[in-house]
Amino acid sequence: MKTWLLILSLLVPSAAFAAGGSSVPLDDANIDLTDNASLQRGAKLFMNYCFGCHSTQYQRYERVATDIGIPLDLMQENLIFTGAKIGELMENSVDDEQAAKWFGATPPDLTLVARVRGVDWIYTYLRTFYVDETRPFGVNNVVFPSVGMPHVLEELQGIPTKKYETRLVDGEEKLVFTGEIEVDGSGEMSTDEYDQAVRDITNFLAYSAEPIALERQRLGYWVLGFLFILLILSYFLKKEFWRDVH
Ligand code: HEC
Repeated sequence: MKTWLLILSLLVPSAAFAAGGSSVPLDDANIDLTDNASLQRGAKLFMNYCFGCHSTQYQRYERVATDIGIPLDLMQENLIFTGAKIGELMENSVDDEQAAKWFGATPPDLTLVARVRGVDWIYTYLRTFYVDETRPFGVNNVVFPSVGMPHVLEELQGIPTKKYETRLVDGEEKLVFTGEIEVDGSGEMSTDEYDQAVRDITNFLAYSAEPIALERQRLGYWVLGFLFILLILSYFLKKEFWRDVH
């Protein structure tokens, strides 16, 4: 009986441990790693809006292009801005010391950030910048208070502000932050389009953190199937072996 329990516990994957611990509720990123169009849009946005500060230096351009279905010549022509060759690592030329002076913090490499922070955190982070004149770049962030990063997607989202409403707190009417961000409509995108753009970037970062996730899942089914067949065979073999003993 105990052996069965052991086998069962090996087969059932352990619960995923989500990174986090943030007190702010996170929105569901709802990404789809099988959606190549989304990954490609994400890569394009990432190279245009993020790569100036953040590298993904544990990845190679060629591998990324192949994995998410971008033809190599298009990748080279349109998405490599540093003069790097397609086979090279995705490094940028940001001087860490200078960057630390400008932003108060060095922009970290983002290859693995989706594993560290979790996709919901990234999705929420990129949608919750808000105007805060007390900060050096005039913006702050709901899930990353006192963030050093400027709101680089402002031209797409528009100018975001915290949404307040009057609520009764301890018998008194007070202006309370609703947890939502409102935008002034000056951005190039509607709210839905912006959410989708951020979802695409998040999707791309999730892929980046675990390029073989899909492949592993596919293999996993084969391995489980194989183990199951082996189990049945072993069972009948055992019966056969012991038949004459009793
Ligand atoms: C102008 C430079 C700059 C650009 C462009 C930029 N960032 Fe940042 N980013 C930073 C800096 C600086 C930090 C560190 C903030 C801090 O520690 O206060 C940061 C932090 C982050 C973090 C948090 C990392 C962590 O785990 O602490 C994420 C995620 C992130 N950026 C994503 C992005 C994405 C996605 C884009 C493109 C849409 C982008 N950044 C564009 C400068 C930049």
